[in-house]
Amino acid sequence: MKRIAVFTSGGDAPGMNAAVRAVVRNASFHDMHVYGIRRGYEGMIDGDLERLERRDVGNIIHRGGTILKTARSQRFMTPEGRRSAYETLLAHDIEACIAIGGNGTFTGASVFTEEYNIPFIGVPGTIDNDLYGTDMTIGFDTAVNTAIEAVDKIRDTADSHNRLFFVEVMGRHAGFIALNTAIGSGAASALIPETDTTIEELVEFLKMGARRKKLFSVVIVAEGNKNGNASEIAAQVKEKFDFYDTKVTIIGHLQRGGSPTALDRVLSSRLGFHAVEGLVKGQQNVMTGLVNGKIKYTPFAEAITKSKNLDNDLVRMAEILAL
Ligand code: F6P
Repeated sequence: MKRIAVFTSGGDAPGMNAAVRAVVRNASFHDMHVYGIRRGYEGMIDGDLERLERRDVGNIIHRGGTILKTARSQRFMTPEGRRSAYETLLAHDIEACIAIGGNGTFTGASVFTEEYNIPFIGVPGTIDNDLYGTDMTIGFDTAVNTAIEAVDKIRDTADSHNRLFFVEVMGRHAGFIALNTAIGSGAASALIPETDTTIEELVEFLKMGARRKKLFSVVIVAEGNKNGNASEIAAQVKEKFDFYDTKVTIIGHLQRGGSPTALDRVLSSRLGFHAVEGLVKGQQNVMTGLVNGKIKYTPFAEAITKSKNLDNDLVRMAEILAL
C-alpha cells in the first residue's frame, strides 16, 4: 500500500491533531504517501485534499480543533455524494482511508466500504465517549477537564451566594461527560440519559442536602437526559423547592475546544499510530480502540450498533459521595 488518506469528520475533539500527526508520521515510516482531506466527507466529495508530509504535522500535537477542518456531511448520505467521493479517491490513487470521528463518521464509512472496495480504518474521535470498542475516545478527557474547571469556578460563586446551579454539559445521548464531571467536581447530582431520576427524586435529594446543612448545590445536567434542558429542569425544581436561589449555566462548545490533556495526546498518538499499523497488517473496516490498556480492532458494524454502557458502580458511587 503506497497512498492513503486521512480526514477528520463530525464534531471536532481535542486530540484529533495529535492523531493526524501520528497517522502521517507512522505512514511515512512505512514509506506511504499521505493525503489530508479537508472538511471530512465534504472534502472527499469536492476533491479538497493535499499531500501531508512529516513536517506538515509538526507543532500541532498541543492544538485543539483539527487542522484538517471537519464537517457533518449530508451529501455523503446520498449515493451520488459517495460516488463523487469514490471518484476523488480513485483520481488520486488512494488505496485506503483513515477516518477520525464518531458514530456518524463510521456509519458513513461502513456504507461506503460496502459499496466501494477501499479499506477504511477508524480512529474514535468524539468528546462524547459513546463508542463501543474503546474505553475512551479522543477528546473525552479534555472535555471533562474543561467542564470540571468550569464547575470549580461556579462552586465559588454558588457557595458565596448559597445558590443552586444547574450546569448543562454535552454528550449527545450519553452521560459519560456528565457523570465524570459530577464525580470530579463533587457535584450534588448528575441527571444522565442512562438513569431514570425524576424531578421529584431530585427535589427529595436536594431537600435531604438542605437538611444536612448543605448551603449550596451544583447539579450536572447531561444534554440528553430525560427531564429536559437545564433551564426547564431548574424551573420545575423551583416550583417544588425554592429554598435556593437557582441559576443555570450551559458550558456548551467550550467543552469542544482547548489544548488536549496529556491523556488525550497519548491516547490520540496511540490510536493514530495503530490505525496505520492495522492497515499494514491487513486490517480493514475496523475501528482502532483501547480496551483495558491494549489496542483492539472492532469492526465498524459492531462499533456503530453496540452501545457502550456506563459503569453502574460509578453511578452508585457518585450518589453516595455527593451528600
Ligand atoms: O458529538 C459531539 C457533540 O459536541 C455533542 O456532545 C453535541 O450534542 C453535538 O456534538 C453538538 O454538535 P454541533 O457542534 O454540530 O452543534
